[in-house]
Amino acid sequence: MSVHKEVKRITTHILQEMKSRGEKIAMLTAYDYSMAAIVDEAGVDIILVGDSASNVMAGHETTLPITLDQMIYHASSVVRAAKRALVVVDLPFGSYQGNSKEALNSAIRIMKEAGAHSVKMEGGVEIAESVSRILTAGIPVMGHLGLTPQSIYKFGTYTVRARHEAEAQKLREDALKLQELGCFGIVLEKIPATLAKEVSESLNIPTIGIGAGRHCDGQVLVIHDMLGINKAFKPRFLRQYANLSEAMNGAIKNYVSDVKAKSFPDETEQY
Ligand code: KIV
Repeated sequence: MSVHKEVKRITTHILQEMKSRGEKIAMLTAYDYSMAAIVDEAGVDIILVGDSASNVMAGHETTLPITLDQMIYHASSVVRAAKRALVVVDLPFGSYQGNSKEALNSAIRIMKEAGAHSVKMEGGVEIAESVSRILTAGIPVMGHLGLTPQSIYKFGTYTVRARHEAEAQKLREDALKLQELGCFGIVLEKIPATLAKEVSESLNIPTIGIGAGRHCDGQVLVIHDMLGINKAFKPRFLRQYANLSEAMNGAIKNYVSDVKAKSFPDETEQY
């Protein structure tokens, strides 16, 4: 008799129920199999294969250079590891802004070639046609409003967005539009906590905040930042749960010194 216990996969429907009963949603990024397995096992509800891979995995200054093929590579590794979490994959810059057919083809590639469960797209009313076309094909879509890093050259800085009423009003309207189109959730990045609270309370679908305060229905962080692997990045919103860069540096220094001192490997570590 098999003792294998089936793990119940988080679905967009379950996320909706979590919002309804006031249970917060935990989301983290992952970009490879080993990290995703740890994240999934630790109970994270949504794994985001973010285009932040462009920064933390490839060392680019922005998220713009990462390609659809590269996102599919990262996503397929994560999907193989995720037993419980819902896997959301960013549509990268240039793969959906052209027209809705191109957007749909990109989303289909992510679902088909990576085996992802959903996609995420930055923007509001201006991408409505693409969002709608992807949703019509049966692909769940998560929105992303506020600081949208794919538009960094338009903004000019990574500072807090929607501080002024005109931009706040646009964000409110964008959020309602994305909900109306059928998105299952919206990431709110780096906006005032009061605005994030208002938007979260006005929507039926969950909001996931990053630098958007405690009233969002869930939170997301980039795993390299919260584990302290990426030492240079320390914005106010980031809570660092570990200092892995220091731990790894110490371990690697010990290894180098053992090799140099000829103390590794010893007799028990050979055949
Ligand atoms: O790419 C990413 O990691 C993201 C999060 C910051 C929300 O979009």
